[in-house]
Formats: sequence, structure tokens, C-alpha cells
Amino acid sequence: MERVKVTIPTKFKPLLTEHFRYKVYWGGRAGGKSYAFADSLLIKARMSTCRIACVREIQESIKDSVYQLLKDRASFYGFDDFKFFDDRIENIVTGSTFIFKGLRDQDAQKIKSLEGVDVVWIEEGQSIRKASWDILNPTIRKPNSEIWVSMNREEENDPIWKAVAANPDERTFVCKVNYYDNPHCPEEMKYLAEKCKETSPEDYDHIWLGAPVAQGSNKLINAKDVRKAQEYKIGHTTSPLIVGVDIARFGDDKTVLCYRRGRWCFKIEELEKLSTVEVANKITNVIQELKPARVFLDLGNNGAGVYDILKDRGFKCVRGVNFGGRAINDDRYFNKRAEMWALANEWLKSDAPVQLVDNDELLDDLCSVSKAYDNKGRLQLESKDKVKERIGRSPDKADAFVLTFAEPVYDDGKTKMVGIENNTIESLFKTTMETSW
Ligand SMILES: Nc1ncnc2c1ncn2[C@@H]1O[C@H](COP(=O)(O)OP(=O)(O)OP(=O)(O)O)[C@@H](O)[C@H]1O
Ligand SMILES: [Mg+2]
Repeated sequence: MERVKVTIPTKFKPLLTEHFRYKVYWGGRAGGKSYAFADSLLIKARMSTCRIACVREIQESIKDSVYQLLKDRASFYGFDDFKFFDDRIENIVTGSTFIFKGLRDQDAQKIKSLEGVDVVWIEEGQSIRKASWDILNPTIRKPNSEIWVSMNREEENDPIWKAVAANPDERTFVCKVNYYDNPHCPEEMKYLAEKCKETSPEDYDHIWLGAPVAQGSNKLINAKDVRKAQEYKIGHTTSPLIVGVDIARFGDDKTVLCYRRGRWCFKIEELEKLSTVEVANKITNVIQELKPARVFLDLGNNGAGVYDILKDRGFKCVRGVNFGGRAINDDRYFNKRAEMWALANEWLKSDAPVQLVDNDELLDDLCSVSKAYDNKGRLQLESKDKVKERIGRSPDKADAFVLTFAEPVYDDGKTKMVGIENNTIESLFKTTMETSW
């Protein structure tokens, strides 16, 4: 085999020179984890015959995996002994193979294909669910096999962290790496890190130093839940369409429409600088074309005007929502806004996976709102103005999204309650639900 000079940063040398069942590298962004793991595995695959599995929690297609990174690195070093197939990589000299899998879709049967692997690389270890880890860990059983984990810690209790790295035993190697440990860290990344350090020390600790988000954080919605939903793909559902509309304030905010069908929130649409009538016309088009079961409209700002026009046009599916109004469950929630946000949070955390439109501003918006409790112990949220002051814009996308949780919506209002003649579930709620749009 030809000799090619590959330099692995010092902190990563144990990947190739030491044997541990678990090797966990953790830290903030740009620590060089992914590159060092890829380089080390390519070298390993050239030195001996080994089976390598690259896994992550969710992998819809090979594009989500580290396949491309491995390919780029092999090409960078001029390793021409690798052959790249659609779903795997092989070394034609040693016979080593790389396979790529998402753990979310595995069960005890399917995962058996991993039994013979020598190294598993778990990328984005913080996203691995406990159920996935509990299936994977005992499957890796070949003598001297190793489990390599690269992760940016999300929470104190990330399942892999808790299971392996929190209290490492003699078979576990744990190493922290940050951008300043990475001799190849691009200047742009260093600049971003230093800027973040000045403007937002808490974010810096988490994003760049890899500290988990403090437990008992006062934020209502957890970034991990949002990201998980943004990565998940549902693709199809027969649930009725619900549209949430956050109407622009006087001034610069945008009107935002959010579209959700049950577990699938698939679209966010922004409208800029439209008059009340123009917004009403846009919603009219949406109603006529898509026939949503409900359109929940924020009555604040200019919303009341839009609502009046739509009601005047006879659309029964339109509901006005007063953020400051009473919650359906007002023992638990200070107002309607707190209730909708809490329901959206429950949706994000629900056992059945949900899909949220993949939009960075929506993620930021959702994670920016702090929670508190009033003197009756009810959930109360930080005011929209305060959030705006802190993040520099109004969290309109998140508000449009949470509006889709303003009232429960069932298919056609036809669901019957057992034992209660002629009563729909909806009729038991405080609002009446019409059956047609
Ligand atoms: N061996 C290397 N040669 C050249 N550039 C490198 C090398 N290792 C890292 N880099 C540079 O540093 C950047 C960060 O590295 P990498 O993506 O591996 O970090 P990471 O710890 O996985 O970060 P993240 O948490 O953002 O995924 C890369 O985008 C690349 O520009
Ligand atoms: Mg990485």
C-alpha cells in the first residue's frame, strides 16, 4: 500500500492507538470530531480488514450520513483503493466495508446485521434515543469491537452520555474537544465563536464549549425536541388541515401562515407588507383551495379586521384567537397563549414522532420563550415584547405554529363519545365546532 501522510490532531490519536470498548468525543461546534473520525476510520480500513458501521438516530437517505465526508476525505488524501457504492464503501485491497444506518428504523431483528462489525461510529450521539441505544449496545459483540461516539451534548441527561460517559469505567475513554483544540479550525468559525462569547456567554458555553443546556432551564421548548421533529419525515397523513395565522403588527412584522395536518406540520409561509384586505384575500384563497378544517387567526394587531372580513364572507372554519384570553384549561394555563405554547410543546414531545417544517428561524423562535408560573401555579410565558427585545424580532413563525393548537380539531367533528348519545367530543368543549368549512 502506498504511504500517504495523514495527520490526526493529537487529541484524536487514541482512536487508532488505544483499545477501549467506548470512545466518546464531545464538545462544541468545529472541534474537528467528524473529520478526525472519518480520517481515522479510512486509515483503519486500509490497515486491516474491518467492518465499520456509521450510524445516527435518523437517516432517511445516505445523504444524511457521513458517507460524503468519508468520500471527500478519501479523495483529499488520494486514496484510490476505496470503491464507493450507492449504499456502502469498500476497500478493494483489504476488503474492509463501511455501511450506513439510521437507528430509529431498526428493531432487534434488523439490527442483527451489525453484529459482526468491528467499529460503530455513532455520529451526533446526543440525538440517540435510549431505546435505540438499548438495542445497539448489546448488538456490538464481536471480540475487540469498539463503539465510537461523536457528540455535542444537548442536555445533562442525553441517553448515551448517561449510559456511557457520565461515569466512565476502565473500558471507556472520554475526551472533550473544542474549536480551539482543532488545528484546522477555519477562521470564520473562530470569529463566530469569539463573537458569541461576547454577545451571549450562555449560548457560547453550549454551542462552542459543548456544555449541556442547564437543567431546569427556564425555556419552555427544548431545542432537541424541535430539531428531532425537523429531521423526521412523515410525508403523508389523512388528518384534517389546520392553518394558524399570525397577523402582522402595525410596523414591520410579517404575517405568517403555518399549515399542519395532525403530526405533520409541513409549511410556513411569510407575507410581507400586505394590507388587511390583502391578507384576508390570501386566506380566502387558502380556504377555497385547500379547504382547511380550521383557520385560527390571531385577533391582536390587525387580526380583528381580517377576521371581520372573513366572517363577513361566511367562512365557518375561521376562528379568532385572543392570545391574552382565557385558556380552555384555565386551571393550568395563565392565558390562551401559554396554553397553545404548552400544547405545541407536548406535540413536539409526543411518543409518536412528529414532523415540523425545517426552518431555522422557527427553531430559534420556539426556543426563545421563557416560562414562569403565576401565583396560582399556572404556566405563564414571557411577554412577546420581551422576547422581541432579546432576539431582535418577534417570534411570529412560532406564534403561527402554536395557533394551530388553539382548539382540538377532529375529522369532520364526527367522533362520538361512547355512552353519550348524539354528543361529539367537540360539543363537550367550550367552543362549538361547525362541521363544514
Ligand atoms: N484534518 C482536517 N483538515 C482540514 N480541515 C479540517 C480538519 N479537521 C477539521 N477541519 C476543519 O474544521 C471544521 C470543523 O471540523 P468538524 O466538522 O470535524 O468538527 P466537529 O467537531 O464535527 O463540529 P460540529 O459539531 O460542528 O459537527 C471543518 O469544517 C473543517 O473546515
Ligand atoms: Mg461534526
